[in-house]
Amino acid sequence: MSDAVIVTENLTKRFGSRWGRESKVAVQGVNLQVTGAQVYGFLGVNGAGKSTTIRMILDLMHPSQGRALVYGKDPRRQPDVLRRVGSLVEGATFYPYLSGWDNLRVIGNSQAQFNQQRATELVERVGLDKAIKVKVRAYSTGMKQRLGIAAALLQDPDLIILDEPTSGMDPAGIREMRRFIRDLAHEQGKTVFLTSHLLSEVQQTCDRLAIINAGQIIQEGALTDLLSQQSLYELDVSDVERTRNALQERWSVIPTENDGLLHINAPRADIPHIIKRLVEQGIDIYSMAPYRQSLEDYFLELVGLEEGKLS
Ligand SMILES: Nc1ncnc2c1ncn2[C@@H]1O[C@H](COP(=O)(O)OP(=O)(O)O)[C@@H](O)[C@H]1O
Ligand SMILES: [Mg+2]
Repeated sequence: MSDAVIVTENLTKRFGSRWGRESKVAVQGVNLQVTGAQVYGFLGVNGAGKSTTIRMILDLMHPSQGRALVYGKDPRRQPDVLRRVGSLVEGATFYPYLSGWDNLRVIGNSQAQFNQQRATELVERVGLDKAIKVKVRAYSTGMKQRLGIAAALLQDPDLIILDEPTSGMDPAGIREMRRFIRDLAHEQGKTVFLTSHLLSEVQQTCDRLAIINAGQIIQEGALTDLLSQQSLYELDVSDVERTRNALQERWSVIPTENDGLLHINAPRADIPHIIKRLVEQGIDIYSMAPYRQSLEDYFLELVGLEEGKLS
């Protein structure tokens, strides 16, 4: 796709294959396409392979196989393309004995000319204005994250890659930061690619997401699609066993731990048929209602399924 911002093709990273150590595949055959002015989330538990993927996209680490393209270019061959990219990678490092401001100045000057006015605006946007003259060694993790985000934006990049951007921030700070990140995409037209191990974060910030587990993408799509894919209904009936028998050849019926309660996975259009069939069988229905699965449950279910498949 010509307007793709990030494309990865069979991106793979194997660690420790030299010197006879047992090798470990951290990222395996990852194919991603990130386009347009949106926030794209990369979700996975710790150790799933998020940071390794980002490092390969930014050419901080070489893939074992496959490649990553940014704006259609391979940064390994055309590193200039990374001028359009701002990033905050896990464990951003600063000079501890310099103030936040002086760190920004050093970073800005290493990239281009330090733009004082832009830096001042960014410092305010990330909520560091009061602490910017303080030495970084006195910063909390959350403050360093804020400084890292400001640093990532200094050159006004088109693509912003943020690895776990809100880690270490307090709840109020997280809320502000989420809004800021969404504005980057929706008001300023940037593409934001962020990782998180927190489902609620992705749910509240991202337009689209990929779920990575044990190095492999197990799900990808628009957030709303992923959420609506499951149409589960909760059913309260007089006889669970007979309900199952009546429905299971056509719909998937999931027992619950509660007496009389079942979950049914069915499209909305089927609901009248389900009710009719139960009534015909003489089963009493006390209630039937959509059962909204949280993304969290959905995610855990997916990861659980994948682990089940592996073993
Ligand atoms: N430099 C490295 N050498 C060996 N193994 C690594 C290295 N970096 C990451 N790993 C391993 O690769 C896997 C994925 O790590 P990472 O990409 O950091 O995950 P995430 O960012 O999703 O938490 C983990 O099992 C981790 O231990
Ligand atoms: Mg990581």
